[in-house]
Amino acid sequence: LSSSVPDWIGASLPDLVILMLQFNQLSGSLPSQLCHLPHLQILDVSVNEISGTIPKCLNNLTSLAQEGNSNLTIRHSFNISQAEPPMTSLYYDDDATFMWKGTLASYKSILGLVKRIDLSSNRLTGEIPSEITYLVGLLSLNLSRNNLSGQIPLDIGKLKLLDSLDLSRNKIGGGIPTSLTHIDRLGAMDLSYNNLSGEIPTGTQLQSFNASSYIGNPWLCGLPLHVCDPEGTGRPNVSSGEDDADELITQGFYISLGLGFAVGFWGICGSLIFKKSWRYAYYNFLNASNDWLYVK
Ligand SMILES: *[C@@H]1O[C@H](CO)[C@@H](O)[C@H](O)[C@H]1NC(C)=O
Repeated sequence: LSSSVPDWIGASLPDLVILMLQFNQLSGSLPSQLCHLPHLQILDVSVNEISGTIPKCLNNLTSLAQEGNSNLTIRHSFNISQAEPPMTSLYYDDDATFMWKGTLASYKSILGLVKRIDLSSNRLTGEIPSEITYLVGLLSLNLSRNNLSGQIPLDIGKLKLLDSLDLSRNKIGGGIPTSLTHIDRLGAMDLSYNNLSGEIPTGTQLQSFNASSYIGNPWLCGLPLHVCDPEGTGRPNVSSGEDDADELITQGFYISLGLGFAVGFWGICGSLIFKKSWRYAYYNFLNASNDWLYVK
């Protein structure tokens, strides 16, 4: 599929529960009409060429803004109008297959419990709208591999049911909000390859994720990265000989600079001040050179 996500989806399919359009060539921006889908539980437009910003109206997605669901399955009943009397008990259960924590899995018997947004691998720009923190029913949020900037919403911790959060490979800056430590269920998190800075909140389960969740953030410090990672490689900055060789400007560089100046300057000027015969010899030499130049 190419062209943009049609806005009639939001305008004329008010009962839509699952919208999966991943792996296409959709471009343009996400229509704000998508926010008019009160029953939407799964929105997956990953791996397309969608640009523009994430609609701010996301908080209008009523089902996603509620925790849990009374139905395990997503069931549709239908009538066979020709039957006499009309049969109303016929139904079918939806199933869906999608990436969950990095593996492709099929869901049917508990699909009704799944609430996820996956906008990954697109060309989205701008900030993550703070309205996203109203979607307290979300179990999984994947915004990775876009061009998102700005900061992680401070209230991200409101998404208490979040099990998987992937914001990797964007240009998100600022610090890691401490509210993120309030999500007890967070089982998978990836913040790698952004511009995050500051300390990883200490004494939290955020430190139990391994370093790969944080690598590629040039100014992020703390466990499990151990120290600031100015090269953005995720490699702890512990000196190991050859690693230091390619880094010219270090503390040692400044110390040698100071020492070099002190020794060089005072080695020459100091000895001229304190040793009379050398001083005479030196200025005689300067005078002689001066005369010689003048004559030439
Ligand atoms: C997020 O989506 C990308 C593909 O766009 C996928 O590679 C990655 O594994 C997903 N993250 C999680 C946590 O499932």
